[in-house]
Amino acid sequence: SASEPGDLRTPIVAVLGHVDHGKTSLLDKVRGSAVIEGEAGAITQHIGATAVPLDVVSEVAGSLIDPESFDLPGLLFIDTPGHHSFTTLRSRGGALADIAILVVDVNDGFQPQTEEAIRILQDTQTPFVVAANKIDTIPGWRPHEDAPVQETYEAQSDRVRQQLDEALYELIGELSDHGFSSDLYWRLQNFQNNIGVIPVSAETGEGVPDLLTVLMGLAQRYMKEDMEVDVTGPGAGTVLEVKEEQGFGTTVDVILYDGTVREDDTIVVGGMNETIVTEVRALLKPQPLAEIRTEKRFENVEELSAATGVKIAAPELDDAMAGAPVRVVRDRPLQDVIDEVEAELAEIAVETEEEGVVVKADTLGSLEALANALEEAEIPIMRAEVGDIAPRDVSMATTADEDTHRCILGFNVDVLADAEQRAEQDGVELFESDVIYQLVERYEEHVEAIER
Ligand code: GTP
Ligand code: MG
Repeated sequence: SASEPGDLRTPIVAVLGHVDHGKTSLLDKVRGSAVIEGEAGAITQHIGATAVPLDVVSEVAGSLIDPESFDLPGLLFIDTPGHHSFTTLRSRGGALADIAILVVDVNDGFQPQTEEAIRILQDTQTPFVVAANKIDTIPGWRPHEDAPVQETYEAQSDRVRQQLDEALYELIGELSDHGFSSDLYWRLQNFQNNIGVIPVSAETGEGVPDLLTVLMGLAQRYMKEDMEVDVTGPGAGTVLEVKEEQGFGTTVDVILYDGTVREDDTIVVGGMNETIVTEVRALLKPQPLAEIRTEKRFENVEELSAATGVKIAAPELDDAMAGAPVRVVRDRPLQDVIDEVEAELAEIAVETEEEGVVVKADTLGSLEALANALEEAEIPIMRAEVGDIAPRDVSMATTADEDTHRCILGFNVDVLADAEQRAEQDGVELFESDVIYQLVERYEEHVEAIER
């Protein structure tokens, strides 16, 4: 929809958490509840994101919310499949997301990716709430579809309530171990110094009204000033993913967090080697949910404004990097925009030394996080790049003087077949993981084994 100057931008909400703890289900539930409320048309599926307008939020939240007290347009949720938390939470030296939901399976508690997510939240100082998910799996639970959580909680037997309490207190304890003071959200007066814990079920919808109410309230109360941006200016965004798309070649999925992007805009995109300057050929959005079965997967749009998710088709995008900045040039001097993008990339650039290990990661954000973890562990880095582990990385690793440095650490990347072979031949050790501290730990164990 067209924006007027002075409009408030939609707050961006990242959904993070351990694999299978229910991030996607929770968003599905939000979408599904809205369908039941007869608001299906109002929910728009974006590339990598779901926009939920205020009227839908208030329909789902029911009596918990007074829509009159809000003037933000709604919420834009970014799902983070697999391990994309680093990208969705990093931009312009800060956080792409304005706020986050940390989804934790209430039975499973903190798991490696929960820990990782909480570290990123800490580093980027992103405010967040905890969705203690899957409360319906507590033995004996009697579901009350889509009910506010206190209502369904009161309706459970003493034993069920007690079990839920225990699980929740364990979670609150784990948050405290990580330096966060938290409590059940309805007991909190002040959300600025405390993390609200919201028991939910993505399966039954219980607690979902509460979750939306708390998010909307937090955004309205603490983030409104950040949302007062000129959404009509030249667009700024972050690359979520670089993808081959039939008929379009290499495209970038972008979260636009500021301004607008139009067909035919010149854009500047952070690249693996050089900064990319190119022209938008097409702005693509997914087909509306109802038309998902049509042949064409995408719909062309002429213009979009923040906050939104969009697929941009343009020439020369092969070298684009996940996590890199995207800027619309519009009527500014091109060189200024290039400088801006390069300055932002330089800020993320990892310091390398003559001697050290080689690190590869899937996105700029994860590369930075991995480099920080290695720096903390006093492990020097010789090369740090976004991309799969390639033969040239192996060659680089062989130039290290010390045995302990002839290693490649890969975060969430593939090892190209010939690289694996080369590494074996040349005695270069490969370490791969999708959890940063496990990578560091495994490398340290390897070093200990060598030095023993
Ligand atoms: P990744 O994207 O792989 O990281 O997982 P995810 O966090 O998106 O989890 P997803 O939503 O795919 O859910 C994983 C499984 O848990 C699915 O089988 C869901 O049906 C199930 N699940 C999610 N939430 C709930 C819940 O509240 N209750 C129950 N009973 N099952 C749930
Ligand atoms: Mg998922």
